[in-house]
Amino acid sequence: MLKIGLIGCGHIAETYFRSQKYFNNIEIISCADINAEAAKKCAQEYNIESKDVDGLLADKEISIVLNLTTPQAHYEIIKKTLLAGKHSYCEKPLSTNYEHGAELLQLANDNNLYIGNAPDTFLGGGAQLARQLIDQDKIGDIKLGAINFAFPGVQSFHPEPESWFKKGGGPVIDMGPYYFTALVNLLGPAKCVRAKAIKVNDYRTIATGPKKGDKFEVEIPTSIIGSIEFKNSAVIQFFLSFDVINHQRNHIELYGTKGSMIVPDPNMFGGSVFSSYTERGEWKEYSSSNMLIGKTNIFNKSVRSNEQPEVANYRGVGLSEMIDAIENNRTNRCNGKLSLHVLDMIDSTINAAINGVEQNLRTSCERPLVFSENEIKQLMK
Ligand SMILES: NC(=O)c1ccc[n+]([C@@H]2O[C@H](COP(=O)([O-])OP(=O)(O)OC[C@H]3O[C@@H](n4cnc5c(N)ncnc54)[C@H](O)[C@@H]3O)[C@@H](O)[C@H]2O)c1
Repeated sequence: MLKIGLIGCGHIAETYFRSQKYFNNIEIISCADINAEAAKKCAQEYNIESKDVDGLLADKEISIVLNLTTPQAHYEIIKKTLLAGKHSYCEKPLSTNYEHGAELLQLANDNNLYIGNAPDTFLGGGAQLARQLIDQDKIGDIKLGAINFAFPGVQSFHPEPESWFKKGGGPVIDMGPYYFTALVNLLGPAKCVRAKAIKVNDYRTIATGPKKGDKFEVEIPTSIIGSIEFKNSAVIQFFLSFDVINHQRNHIELYGTKGSMIVPDPNMFGGSVFSSYTERGEWKEYSSSNMLIGKTNIFNKSVRSNEQPEVANYRGVGLSEMIDAIENNRTNRCNGKLSLHVLDMIDSTINAAINGVEQNLRTSCERPLVFSENEIKQLMK
């Protein structure tokens, strides 16, 4: 087994420790954090060793670093990981700016090391089912669509929400990776973007944890609206916002020449796909609840806002799939080229909003391979 060292013992770490229960090739042996107390607490809870970051990176037993730091630290930790001769699997996004992401990919390629990056939700039952239906031409040629992510912001549930409202935060960096990756999986690579961004409130108040009631300044736009044009000429409208109290829109809707499709939440692994083939007609449900990583595995509400009761959350499958790819000398699905393309979409969206001009993307990538139930079975306990 390739051994894993985890850096960044925050909110999401528990989800990755839990992934060891589902996948047969994930083994986390030590953890580190810039905050030594957080690392110690995490190590005690999971009965592993805690180290400082440099100590973990120097450990010869570790082949892969699982990077769960905040987005602003991803570049620094991935770079150190690769320079230490280890493979990197990091939470989304690859980095907070395109140039850094491109440098990381080059460094990995030069050293024959793997970069794996979340999101891995597009490997889940819901997204794979949508992919199957699209590949079977159920709704025809997709030329239009819309994506929507809107909620009031992480200050309502995260005890340390400030970084979401500083440079490197914001809805397109935080949630764009799920939606943009889902679209690349369904439609292929993107070509150009247009966007407009606004900030609704200058201050936010922390609603939970030791800093409850503290106000902090919002330094960046918190809503961004625009459109992405794909190489297949589909134009998809996007709405990503931390400023909406409630709404009733679907996460992803795609409109084809033969019908329309509702794709389930790209932040999760399960859910049903719905398709309709006539004007005002019935919506046919395609359930992913019997698929290996579509079936419900979370039954109670956890502390994270993205984990409602009764959902499928198999975060870590991308790491498991990368380990299998390393062992079998093939390209991993959540690979660096895909995550750099998604980062390009994010960075170009921000630039389009700042400059008020359409931005052509600098990168492309292959549409990820379908992830079959057979392949998933090999990775599961
Ligand atoms: N919280 C969620 O529900 C969630 C869900 C999916 C993905 N993510 C992603 O996971 C990552 C972590 O999110 P989180 O919510 O756990 O954040 P968090 O703030 O709770 O935890 C991040 C941890 O990283 C540590 N850290 C920061 N910079 C560091 C550095 N340079 N070196 C070592 N440690 C450092 C912090 O001390 C902290 O303990 C982010 O990329 C986020 O986008 C989070």
